[in-house]
Amino acid sequence: MSSTSRNSSSPTALYGGQAGRRVTVRDLAAAKDRGEKWPMVTAYDAMTAKVFDEAGIPVMLVGDSAAMVVYGYDSTLPVSVDDLIPLTAAVVRGSSRALVVADLPFGSYQASPQDALASAARFMKEAGAHAVKLEGGRRVLPQIDLLVSAGIPVMGHLGLTPQSVNAFGGYRVQGRGQSGDELMADAKALEHAGAFAVVLECVPADLAARVTAALSIPTIGIGAGPSTDAQVLVWQDLMGLTPHPAKFVKKYFDLAGEMDHAVRAFADEVVSGVFPAPEHSYS
Ligand code: KIV
Repeated sequence: MSSTSRNSSSPTALYGGQAGRRVTVRDLAAAKDRGEKWPMVTAYDAMTAKVFDEAGIPVMLVGDSAAMVVYGYDSTLPVSVDDLIPLTAAVVRGSSRALVVADLPFGSYQASPQDALASAARFMKEAGAHAVKLEGGRRVLPQIDLLVSAGIPVMGHLGLTPQSVNAFGGYRVQGRGQSGDELMADAKALEHAGAFAVVLECVPADLAARVTAALSIPTIGIGAGPSTDAQVLVWQDLMGLTPHPAKFVKKYFDLAGEMDHAVRAFADEVVSGVFPAPEHSYS
């Protein structure tokens, strides 16, 4: 693992330190205590996970966003535990340092704490996930209680929780006005139930700042402004593969453009006979 490509020089830093073992939820708690910010990205396959792992990304999420970016659905609702387990196993195999969090998909945990435990246990046993994430606040506390008591680290997710897109009437900012108080109460309840971190998606920046200050567990923002302890993006968004990303996305690369250029060059050389050249051929 190259440490020269990392930004931080501290051996305890989450991004840039602690090579040689997996990041744990205790490391995330310690980073919050130190006031240290950290990055999280989604991953869905082994080779991409290896790149992110070697870059020092401390936490990878096998998001149910796979429904859209891997499977081509127009929401996160259709994917199942069976769809996500092979992706999670691939990300675990492709990484050696990152904490890998598996998203519990829609329908796999809402009905009962027992459903949540059965789904989470499959991700831990069959895929080797180190933690799970589920969406919702006080309504999923029984689920979080049972998972935590079974020794499964749980990441919460509040604000624009995409599995509830139909109830929200679209992908809209959440927590404006008085509903911000509800979100704050949900966040405190998740912390009290033993969640080790909470994602805040598409909420006003000042609300995210207040939640971050009020909690002793890390907050992970996506469209939640600059004050959260960590930031997460879907990797296809940050790399420029997503055609119409949300306002909160910053595009760090033009992967779609680069891939288009490369595949056209390959196709042109096949058609013209330039590829394969002698050095690509066996005698
Ligand atoms: O599924 C996902 O990718 C997520 C992140 C956007 C937080 O839940």
